[in-house]
Amino acid sequence: MNILVIGKYGQLASCLRDVISMQTEITDKHVWHFAPSKELNISERKSVQQAFAKFSPDIVVNTAAYTQVDKAEEEIEQAIAVNQLGCKNVAIACANLNIPLIHISTDYVFSGDNQSPYSPGDKTCPKNVYGLSKYLGEQEVMTYLSQFVIIRTAWVFSEYGNNFVRSMINLAQQKRQFGVVNDQIGNPTYAGDLALSIVDIVDAISSGTKKWGIFHYNGATSVSWYEFAKEIFALAEQNAVIDEYPDISPIGTEDYPTLAKRPNFSAMCNDKIFERWRVRPSDWKRGLLKVIRHQQSS
Ligand SMILES: NC(=O)c1ccc[n+]([C@@H]2O[C@H](COP(=O)([O-])OP(=O)(O)OC[C@H]3O[C@@H](n4cnc5c(N)ncnc54)[C@H](OP(=O)(O)O)[C@@H]3O)[C@@H](O)[C@H]2O)c1
Repeated sequence: MNILVIGKYGQLASCLRDVISMQTEITDKHVWHFAPSKELNISERKSVQQAFAKFSPDIVVNTAAYTQVDKAEEEIEQAIAVNQLGCKNVAIACANLNIPLIHISTDYVFSGDNQSPYSPGDKTCPKNVYGLSKYLGEQEVMTYLSQFVIIRTAWVFSEYGNNFVRSMINLAQQKRQFGVVNDQIGNPTYAGDLALSIVDIVDAISSGTKKWGIFHYNGATSVSWYEFAKEIFALAEQNAVIDEYPDISPIGTEDYPTLAKRPNFSAMCNDKIFERWRVRPSDWKRGLLKVIRHQQSS
C-alpha cells in the first residue's frame, strides 16, 4: 500500500521515519512517502491535490500543523489556515479518493477543568487560539470523512525539534537557578512511542480493521511541568548531559506569564485506543532516557 505522511522534518514525522527505517517488515509491506511542507503545503488546496495525484495514497497520516502555541495568539490567520483549512483540504482530498486519514490533534482542545483524565467523548472547550484551530481541524475531518482516526496527544517530546525536554536541558546548561510551573498537569508522550502506534494502526487498517473515531494517546502517568523537569534533570545528571542538577523551584502559572492560556489539567485517558487498536500508552520515562542518551551522544 502507498502511505502518504504529510510532514517530514517535524518531531513526529522524524520519529516515524526512524521507526520505519528500523522495521524492514513495514517497508516490505508498504511504501511510505514523506512530504515536507515545501512539497505539500496543506493550506493550499492545489498543492494537496498535486501531491495526492503524485503519490496515489491508500492511507494518509497528517502530522503537519501550526504548533507555536503562544505565537498563534498573534498569528490567528496562519494558525487557522494550517490547522483548520489545511485539515479541510486534506480531508476533502481523502474523501475524493475514498481513503482513510489518520490525523493528529491535541489535549489543548480541553479547558482543563476536569478532575480526572479526559475521555475522547468529553466536552471540548479550547482556552487558546492553537487549541481552537486544532478543534476546528477535527471538525473538518469529521465533516468530510467517515474513515478517520483522530489521535489527540499531549506534551510531546523527542530527540528532534523544540520540545520541553530539550528546552530544559538547554536552560540548565545556561542557568543555575530557575522556576518551573507546578500547577499545570499533563501526561508526557514520547513521539517515538506515538510513531510506533501509528505504524501499528496503519498496518491494522491495511489488513481491514475499521475502527474509526477520536482517540487519546499520551503517557500513562501524569506530572506537572515541575515534576517532569525533575525527572529530566535527574537522568541528565546521571548521564552527564548536564554538569550539575540545577536549583529549580516550583512556581505557579501566574509567575510564568505566556501569551496563550493553557489548561491546568489536560491528562487524557488512553483506554479507548488500547481497546480498539491494541496500542499501549507511551512509556514516557523510557522515552525520556532514550532522548537523554541521544543528547549525550550528540
Ligand atoms: N508538540 C507537542 O507537544 C504536541 C502536543 C499535542 C499535539 N501535538 C500535535 O502533534 C502533531 C505533530 O506535532 P510535532 O510536535 O511533530 O510538530 P512540529 O515538530 O512542530 O512539526 C510540525 C510540522 O508541520 C509542518 N507544517 C507546518 N505548516 C505546514 C503546512 N502549511 N503544510 C504542510 N506542513 C506544514 C512543518 O513543516 P515545516 O517544518 O516544513 O514548516 C513541521 O514539519 C501536530 O498535529 C500537533 O498539533 C503536538
